[in-house]
Amino acid sequence: MDTDSKKTFYITTPIYYPSDKLHIGHTYCTVATDAIARYKRLCGCNVMFLTGTDEHGQKIEEKAKQAGITPQQFVDNIVEGNGGILDLWKLMNISNDRFIRTTDGYHVNAVQRIFSKMYENGDIYKGKYVGKYCTPCESFWTESQLVDGKCPDCGREVIDAEEEAYFFRLSKYAGRVRELLLTGDFLEPASRVNEMIKNFIDPGLEDLCVSRTSFTWGIPVDFDAGHVVYVWVDALFNYMTALGYMNDAHDDLKKYWPADVHIVGKEIVRFHSIIWPAMLMSVGEPLPKKVYGHGWLVMDGGKMSKSKGNVVDPYRLAERYGVDALRFFLLRTFPFGADGNFSNELLIGCINNDLANDLGNLVSRTTAMAEKYFGGRLPENHRFHGEMDDALVSAVSALRGRYEAQMEKFQLQNALEEIFKVIQRANKYIDENAPWVLARDMDANGPRLAAVLYNLLETVRICAVLLTPFMPESCEKIFEQLGADEASRSWDSAARWAVLPADCRVVKGEALFPRIDMKKELEELEKMNEAPSESKSNPVLPNVTIDEFAKCDMRVCKVLSCESVKKSEKLLKFTLDDGSGAPRQILSGIRKFYEPEQLAGKTVVAILNLPPRKMMGLESNGMLLSAVCEVNGEEKLHLLMLDDSIPAGYRLC
Ligand code: MSP
Repeated sequence: MDTDSKKTFYITTPIYYPSDKLHIGHTYCTVATDAIARYKRLCGCNVMFLTGTDEHGQKIEEKAKQAGITPQQFVDNIVEGNGGILDLWKLMNISNDRFIRTTDGYHVNAVQRIFSKMYENGDIYKGKYVGKYCTPCESFWTESQLVDGKCPDCGREVIDAEEEAYFFRLSKYAGRVRELLLTGDFLEPASRVNEMIKNFIDPGLEDLCVSRTSFTWGIPVDFDAGHVVYVWVDALFNYMTALGYMNDAHDDLKKYWPADVHIVGKEIVRFHSIIWPAMLMSVGEPLPKKVYGHGWLVMDGGKMSKSKGNVVDPYRLAERYGVDALRFFLLRTFPFGADGNFSNELLIGCINNDLANDLGNLVSRTTAMAEKYFGGRLPENHRFHGEMDDALVSAVSALRGRYEAQMEKFQLQNALEEIFKVIQRANKYIDENAPWVLARDMDANGPRLAAVLYNLLETVRICAVLLTPFMPESCEKIFEQLGADEASRSWDSAARWAVLPADCRVVKGEALFPRIDMKKELEELEKMNEAPSESKSNPVLPNVTIDEFAKCDMRVCKVLSCESVKKSEKLLKFTLDDGSGAPRQILSGIRKFYEPEQLAGKTVVAILNLPPRKMMGLESNGMLLSAVCEVNGEEKLHLLMLDDSIPAGYRLC
């Protein structure tokens, strides 16, 4: 079928914040979407699968500042750098057709046009955003950003203040959005509808603040300098700009919009099922057909986060167990719509039971016997089914239909369950037919033995076709072992029996999924978790020139005195001899790691030429260098200390 006449299917993942490295929870969402996209392609759809990165916002601006680079350099590094998001999706075999970055020029211009359009149609208006203000820092803060009710930057009192901002008339669309949620199946699973109505719609939808002036890393409102577009307005429209909405970079809007489904995590269902439809209503564009809100992968009952240690690093897991095993585990173990509790025991158990014992064994026993008894090529004259074959053949024949019913509902775990019921049935069939007993008298039993093996090969083939969206590389290896050509790997062929030629040629390969020694592995993981994250998932920052580096004046300093700063849990005040003859004061947020008396007399390294900064009313003239890393989910810090024989004032170069 040529691609134009195929049914289209447009599926998206959320676009990820490149503020930190991604963990296994993010991988879960993308792998699930990938499996659905691959399934739809297998069924013959013309699929557009979009993912990308959501690169603006205050958090990124702050992180870049901390790293001493521009926000653009910061996001470039996490997205495109070594071990970044693009690398991760490549590693995980994600088959996205397009990747959007919200810093892409075409998206930026399109969002400006969209914002103006909503302003012109009266749905965006200027108002006042009420918050807190730190006068010395000239910074606007929300209540939740304050630390102990004070400015998070300098620790001083803040005042009530107002900031000019643009608002979107979300309230105007409350009725239409409510109706959308309550009729049909726009939002799934159904439980999410109740959450939205009860928590957000019924209490009353307020207009949404859609511009900010307190930071600059965002898409500028082109008709009002100083305002940047709220990051969610910018982000949500990615689903359309990536197809060419309000831009000429792409021309696929007609073909793929409205989206068939947005796959999103539960905490962002609100943005996708309330704010997104309301904005589309405002600009007069068709609404997506469905939003599916999946659950979270949690650890020990809490949401997964960077602070939960290295085990949730997808690079490590994929490296240790293989990409397909990891993909499979995620989708086989947890019901897609609900939360799932991640543990190493579950992961290893799943690999051992489903992949090594059930699938791996079936494939290796079947191909090994075909080699052993028939030199890898079955004879042609075996095609007969006995009654003993009926149970297996009918289970396999019904499999595609059962699988499809589950996949269409995005019940990935149930679809896999259907396949594994058949795999278990096939392993039982081997025991029932005991091919090794038949092989004792090949003259009498040769054709029957060939029939048994053929039935097993067909079972493996059909299961492999249906497993392809979940484990593309392993299924490819299985097909090679079966000698299956393109036609016998297709969706159609998964509903037909006896597609492999009677005298098919089989080659036994290596074990697909080796068994893991659970006890030993858990011990190793425990050890691994105590080591710092690999540099692979903690990418090296972009290059600086030697001249740029040389601009940092780093000197050996002696600690003359060190004391805690009153009312601060974080700060230590250092008086240093930097070799100049005059004492230098530096404040450092390392109170949690050192007692002040431990540090007097030590030889340390400081950058002297940073601009002076006030913290808790005291001036800091430079910064002490420390080695920082995250171990077992906890931040560890070591102040750099040098040999005391090095005199103060020496420069590091
Ligand atoms: N940038 C927004 C999305 C904008 S879409 C227009 C965002 N980004 S995110 O990086 O924080 O999250 C991306 C997706 O990963 C979300 O769907 C989120 O639910 C999902 N997950 C993050 N942690 C997760 C788990 N622990 N488990 C499952 N999904 C998780 O939100």
